[in-house]
Amino acid sequence: MTNAQKWISVFLGLFLVLFILGRITKKEDSANYMHENYSSAATNESEKKEDGLALIKKNGCIVCHGQDLTGSKMAPQLVNIKEHWSRDGLINYLRNPSAYKDDRFDEFRIKYPNIVMPSYGNIDVKDLGKIADYLLTR
Ligand code: HEC
Repeated sequence: MTNAQKWISVFLGLFLVLFILGRITKKEDSANYMHENYSSAATNESEKKEDGLALIKKNGCIVCHGQDLTGSKMAPQLVNIKEHWSRDGLINYLRNPSAYKDDRFDEFRIKYPNIVMPSYGNIDVKDLGKIADYLLTR
């Protein structure tokens, strides 16, 4: 082997090592990423339900919608609302209910014009998602 050939093989070897190292670390990255994903999605159905209900209680929804969300004089029942809402639609509604008009609510609007569905744009969207998940399974 000439000197030049030796140098070329050293460089080739180095490239190979770097390439392999690069592959290995890349795999670890995506493995970590997947792991994170899995752990955050790990809540099972019943945990999600409990979260949603807990958030509903914590945010005082039951004050108007009734202890078990079956409605009151002031606000409609939150039962079977999957007939009217998709998950995204419901989240949007909770963030800005005044943008939504429906004569289903006339009865409440006429009787108690000062009691309106408050906007919950201040609640974290993820939590709104949990609330929506809960309401859509009732
Ligand atoms: C101050 C009373 C009040 C509170 C508190 C309240 N709501 Fe309401 N909500 C209403 C009223 C009144 C309506 C009827 C809609 C309207 O008049 O625009 C309504 C409507 C709704 C609807 C639409 C129901 C349907 O049939 O489409 C949903 C969903 C809802 N509320 C969820 C919630 C959630 C979740 C909370 C708590 C985070 C909450 N509300 C807190 C008064 C309230």
